[in-house]
Amino acid sequence: MAGVILAVSGKGGVGKTSISAAIVRLLVEHHPKARILAIDADPATGLATALGVDVVQTLDNIRVRIAESAEKGETREAVELLGEARFQILDALAEQGGGGSFAFLAIGRPETAGCYCAINSYLKEVLTLLAAEFDYVVIDGEAGVEQINRRVMERVTHLLLISDQSRKGIQVLQTILEVARRMVMYDRCGVVINRITSPNLEIRLDGIDLLACIPSDNIHAENDILGKSVFDLSPESPVLTGAETALRNFTLI
Ligand SMILES: Nc1ncnc2c1ncn2[C@@H]1O[C@H](COP(=O)(O)OP(=O)(O)OP(=O)(O)O)[C@@H](O)[C@H]1O
Ligand SMILES: [Mg+2]
Repeated sequence: MAGVILAVSGKGGVGKTSISAAIVRLLVEHHPKARILAIDADPATGLATALGVDVVQTLDNIRVRIAESAEKGETREAVELLGEARFQILDALAEQGGGGSFAFLAIGRPETAGCYCAINSYLKEVLTLLAAEFDYVVIDGEAGVEQINRRVMERVTHLLLISDQSRKGIQVLQTILEVARRMVMYDRCGVVINRITSPNLEIRLDGIDLLACIPSDNIHAENDILGKSVFDLSPESPVLTGAETALRNFTLI
């Protein structure tokens, strides 16, 4: 299957980054020849640590550099600037080693105070630009509905919503889905319930596919405390087996 763009979304702290990292590891293992790109779209970062990669360049660094060169120089066409961005991004990607064979890009944190609109709209352009270069793009989204609402992820193939068992988590998930139905084009959408502590309590999801349930796992939490990556986890760890079930239900592995 070519041209998969999988976006992970949900409330803060429910396990988006953990599951995004697990998905990248599973895709690398199941599709060793595929071109895989992991994007940390959360300015608060975290995916790099979860994947055990060093952040050499962020999208914001590249954006600022190109904006500066445009200010200094002659008036260049937007399309030319975008072409340069593509070149610099692919260059930055090639430098990444990582725990497996995948490329990594972090959106970064704009140094100037204020809003994230510029970097978010840049991310949107870059996503369109890069989608053609990769077989699988996995996006670890910012918590909440903002990036969906701003259509940063306008065209994804798979929308993966994560929640814990809490009513709040499920409500956020339903809000994201309502907005996504209007603002995002996607082929498949599904839910993973993570960090389950009360397996006997039923969770009601109206009209969304439940792809997998993942129990709370202390070893996973300890791994995170120690700053270890997803590649240090045992293949039997619940986050990995849960992410695997979700990917199988999406028929991506
Ligand atoms: N199944 C699990 N069992 C136990 N702990 C977990 C599990 N999944 C995630 N965690 C822990 O929960 C915390 C939040 O996880 P994670 O960073 O993946 O969530 P997030 O949704 O990306 O958060 P944020 O919104 O802050 O980006 C981490 O400390 C992580 O180790
Ligand atoms: Mg996160």
